[in-house]
Amino acid sequence: MKRMIPILAGISIAMTSFTGSALAAEHGEVGKEISKQEQQKMVNVAHRGASGHAPENTMAAFQKGFEMKADYVEIDVQMTKDGELVVIHDTTVDRTTNGTGYVGDLTLEEIRQLDAGSWFSESYAGEKVPTFEEVLDAFRGKVGILIELKAPELYPGIEKKIAEALKERNMHQSNNEKIIIQSFNHESMEKSKELLPNLPHGVLAGTSWKNVTEEQLSEFAMYADYFNPNMNIVTDELVSDVHEAGMEIYPYTSRSQEQAFHLFDLNVDGIITDYTEHVYYHPVKNN
Ligand code: G3P
Ligand code: CA
Repeated sequence: MKRMIPILAGISIAMTSFTGSALAAEHGEVGKEISKQEQQKMVNVAHRGASGHAPENTMAAFQKGFEMKADYVEIDVQMTKDGELVVIHDTTVDRTTNGTGYVGDLTLEEIRQLDAGSWFSESYAGEKVPTFEEVLDAFRGKVGILIELKAPELYPGIEKKIAEALKERNMHQSNNEKIIIQSFNHESMEKSKELLPNLPHGVLAGTSWKNVTEEQLSEFAMYADYFNPNMNIVTDELVSDVHEAGMEIYPYTSRSQEQAFHLFDLNVDGIITDYTEHVYYHPVKNN
């Protein structure tokens, strides 16, 4: 069902602060209709940074996500041969750099020599694969950081290293700096929750979790605050079951305005997207 709310032209923004018309005015749309979706509070997560606009998992993409006012930037963390934490999605460097080989077979020095920007556009030539600590230091307190442990089963001890980096910066005591830790590897999240009990954790769920049961969700909720599924398995029922279990739901990965609006309609709590501009931020949630 399409739910549209008419907005009258000329309504004062001052009188209607934080209402649909104020939002419409912000977007230059006074006099048009805006949908209920646009009035909702929706957590906006820039997937691998603003990866629709800049090379994924680079400082340029995270900066872009911050500038576009994302609530969080999502990052993928892995470990080098010499035990350093780096931010890259694939388990090899082949797709997103000018190098080849597994992340875990390369030293930090070798990885830092690679160009992680040119594959996306020549204007990003020279972008490096960031270290985890570099991202924390540059963006803590500016934008939330949704930290994905990518393939942690390949990197024994990675949970402890992540916890140490956060503890060194006193970012483990509370969630003032908006840190969430998530993984498809749920055992890894149980382990991480023990190391970082004050930080929220999330379980990622691919399409094989289409028929996740209420019991399974309750088990996840013992250590997780978020159930973040592939957007293709999200239904009204799943959203209400996740809420019933006491968790929030941030599906991944929205890549069109239609997909984002569909997720708004399903009343999810956040949207992980390559295009931050598809997820309007608004401080009022109407339902
Ligand atoms: O944040 C969830 C999403 O990033 C999981 O998928 O493959 O993009 O890491 P992927
Ligand atoms: Ca990811």
